[in-house]
Amino acid sequence: MAVLDDEQDALTESGISVGRGEPLVVIKDVNKHFGELHVLKDINTTVNRGEVVVVIGPSGSGKSTLCRAVNRLETIDSGTITIDGKPLPEEGKALARLRSDVGMVFQSFNLFAHKTVLENVTLGPIKVRGLKRAEADKRAMELLDRVGVANQAKKMPNQLSGGQQQRVAIARSLAMNPKVILMDEPTSALDPEMINEVLDVMIGLAQDGMTMIVVTHEMGFARKAADRVLFMADGQVLEEAAPEDFFTNPRTDRAKDFLSKILTH
Ligand SMILES: Nc1ncnc2c1ncn2[C@@H]1O[C@H](COP(=O)(O)OP(=O)(O)OP(=O)(O)O)[C@@H](O)[C@H]1O
Ligand SMILES: [Mg+2]
Repeated sequence: MAVLDDEQDALTESGISVGRGEPLVVIKDVNKHFGELHVLKDINTTVNRGEVVVVIGPSGSGKSTLCRAVNRLETIDSGTITIDGKPLPEEGKALARLRSDVGMVFQSFNLFAHKTVLENVTLGPIKVRGLKRAEADKRAMELLDRVGVANQAKKMPNQLSGGQQQRVAIARSLAMNPKVILMDEPTSALDPEMINEVLDVMIGLAQDGMTMIVVTHEMGFARKAADRVLFMADGQVLEEAAPEDFFTNPRTDRAKDFLSKILTH
């Protein structure tokens, strides 16, 4: 969500780093193939600090691949991706550091099954950031409280509902103080009654100035929280517009067709 200047102080106090809209994730001329299949075709876009970008488009259009390329879970064939002015590192320590700057929340939660909720959130800060356990526990409890599951801290992930697990996954990614959070269909594995509790957490993050790239077909979220919608089809970004513009006035036939399908759901 774009951040107004007079909101800066409050946001800085809340611990989320905000800038004044300077470029944070810059994706330039990116191409990617899986064998013969050209899955990302000349992708160009810039996500500014504090911005929330929603990526939508038909199945197979390359949305997940684009997200995965941004934290280098996938390599790219050509073009560049920079985070905060630095190109994505190839490997080693620099890559580990990049991964901790880029939070990732997946459709399937991906919590560590054999660790408690609290340990899920403290593991990264202790192992990667070198925090002391007491310090990590304190911060983790604050984050679990923020996403509304502090009372579940001692449980194992499989004792939680899907919505609760996904909120733990969000707390876990926030615990690393990421510069940007990528979310790939964070609500699509949830039962309908749990979708809103996760969306509310996401909207709260957006309002606090977190930079987010979110693959989702939840138009309510896009309308409330997104600064921009990217519509992808066949590996290309076909449209890039403010949510209201995109939903009410899609320009391409591809987007019109796609919207007519998801609107009649
Ligand atoms: N590891 C892989 N190896 C080969 N092909 C892949 C691989 N991952 C994805 N693909 C293919 O790349 C294309 C883009 O996939 P991607 O998962 O990025 O699409 P998507 O837009 O996220 O789709 P969905 O909405 O179904 O999640 C698809 O045709 C997919 O089959
Ligand atoms: Mg996908």
